Amino acid sequence: MAFQRNAFLDAWFKHTLAAIALLGVLLWGSAPALANGVNADVARYLTPDGPARVKLDPQGNQASYSGEALTRGRDIFMENCAYCHANGLTLPFPQISLTLEDLAGATPARDNIDGFVTYLRQPMTYDGSDFSDWCREVPESWLARPQLEELAAFTLSAAEKVPGWGTLPSNR
Ligand code: HEC
Repeated sequence: MAFQRNAFLDAWFKHTLAAIALLGVLLWGSAPALANGVNADVARYLTPDGPARVKLDPQGNQASYSGEALTRGRDIFMENCAYCHANGLTLPFPQISLTLEDLAGATPARDNIDGFVTYLRQPMTYDGSDFSDWCREVPESWLARPQLEELAAFTLSAAEKVPGWGTLPSNR
């Protein structure tokens, strides 16, 4: 009996590990980078019509970001943000996701490059009234402004264009 139970657990364990590995592949994306330095998902969703136009400030000015820039932003996001924000969700606090709607509703709004950068330099609560230590602060010593802008541009562009961003665990 004990032997059978162990065999069963062993099989269960292996299946569970396989399922977790599969989920990992689905969540983190295994799409191969294209030869020209543009990630396949970026090319498919974010820049099919050329550089992505992203809202720069609350006044509605815009800036253009190439597929290469968004791919660099994606790399930073996947490595440092996705374990809490997979596919635009906020796993530890689902009410405050990375959808454009949620980002725009914060005070001050975070649905533009300037607001997004300001937030990550010093994360605040949703109403802007206090510091928050939930999210990952990004000091200048880690990412200089141009890199942080590329991270912001990828995230805002994904929020606008990736199907299911912020509402589904994976876009595949
Ligand atoms: C340890 C988990 C964790 C990591 C890692 C993390 N965040 Fe967060 N993030 C949160 C939580 C929780 C919130 C919402 C709670 C709050 O108000 O602080 C949040 C909020 C945000 C918001 C505001 C969302 C809104 O709708 O107003 C943005 C933007 C954001 N994160 C971006 C990032 C980026 C970019 C990274 C990677 C550099 C990152 N986060 C890394 C947990 C995390």
